[in-house]
Amino acid sequence: MTTDGTVQALSMPSVAIHGGYLPTPATQLDKLFPGSGVRLHAKLDQLQLSGSTKERTAQFLLDSLEHSGALIPGGTVVESTSGNLGMALARQCTQRGYAFVAVIDGRANIAATKTMAAFGARVEMVATPSDGNRLRARVQRVEQLLAEIPGAVTTNQYGSIANPSAHASTTLPELVASLGGPPDHLYVAMSTTGSLLGCQLAIERAGWATRLVGVDAEGSALFGGALGERKLPGLGAGFATPLSQQARPDAIHRISEADMVRGCRLLARREGLMAGASTGAIVAAIGYDLPTLRPGASVAMLVHDGGGAYLPTVYDDDWVRAQIAGAEAAIAVTEAPNPFAGKA
Ligand SMILES: Cc1ncc(COP(=O)(O)O)c(C=O)c1O
Repeated sequence: MTTDGTVQALSMPSVAIHGGYLPTPATQLDKLFPGSGVRLHAKLDQLQLSGSTKERTAQFLLDSLEHSGALIPGGTVVESTSGNLGMALARQCTQRGYAFVAVIDGRANIAATKTMAAFGARVEMVATPSDGNRLRARVQRVEQLLAEIPGAVTTNQYGSIANPSAHASTTLPELVASLGGPPDHLYVAMSTTGSLLGCQLAIERAGWATRLVGVDAEGSALFGGALGERKLPGLGAGFATPLSQQARPDAIHRISEADMVRGCRLLARREGLMAGASTGAIVAAIGYDLPTLRPGASVAMLVHDGGGAYLPTVYDDDWVRAQIAGAEAAIAVTEAPNPFAGKA
C-alpha cells in the first residue's frame, strides 16, 4: 500500500522451496567495527526456513540419498546433530515423506529439540560419556540405530561429499553474486567443516584469491586442537571429521566461549542482528584480524544461524556468569570500536 492508499504492484515470486533451502541475501555491516576501513558483508542464512545454513546441507544430503536409491519412499533417516541439521532434516523429511530419528546430546538448544519434535522427528538424547566426547557417543548411537531399524539410512554429514557440495553450489555462488565478485577474505565457522570445504572447493575451481578463514571453538579437536569442555553448540567437533581431512583453510582461529558471547552481543547491539554462538565467534575472529587487513578490503562472513535459540544461554547474563569463564568482560557493553583488537 502506498501513502495515498493505492495498492502497488510488486514483483514477488512464489517458489516451491519447502523441500529445501532458500537463496539468502547479504547485507553490509558498517556499524560493527566503526572506522575499520574494510567493507564487511554478512550472508543472512538465519533466514532459512529452519533458521540455519544446515537447510542447504540437509537438502543436498537427502537429494544424494534419493539419487543413489539408498533412501526409498517412506524410509527412515538417522543422523547425529547438535541441533541445526536436525531441525532442517526433520522439516525436509516430513515434507518429503520420510521418518527421521535425530541423535542429540545435552548441549542441544531446547528450541532445537522441540522444533525437531514438532516436525514429527523421534529425538534421542545420548548421555555424556566419561571422556566427555559427546560427538563420538552420538555417532555410536547412530550406528546402533542403523542396525536396529530395518532399511534405515544415515545422511552422514561428517563424511558425505554432498555436504560441501551444498555450499560449493549454493552458499558461495550466492554470496559472490550479492557482492558482485569474490571477497578478499571469507570467514566461515567449522563443525563438520562442510561449509568451509564447500567454499574452498568453489574458490579453487574459480581460481579466486579469496583468503579463507576457518573459525573453530577452543576445546574442538579439529585440525589438531586439544579436546576440552564446550558448552555452546554449533561449532567445533569432538574428532577430526572425515571432511576436515580435505579442508585447507588459509588461517584458523580458535575462539573462547567468552568471545563468542561478546561477538554475538556486539552484533546484536551495533547491527540489530541476533545470531548464534558460531557467528559470534566469527565476529571475534574478524576483530582479531582487523588491524592486519588492508583498508578497502572486502571481508565476508556467514551468519550461520539466528539468535533466538540462544536467548537462554548466550544472551542471558545469569547463564553466562554461571557457565563461562571471563563472563564480565563478555557481557560488558563497550564503546571501543574493536573490542577484540590486540587479542589474536
Ligand atoms: C550454527 C552453525 N555454525 C557453524 C556451522 C558450520 O558447520 P559445518 O562445518 O558443519 O558446515 C553451521 C552449519 O550450518 C551452523 O549451523
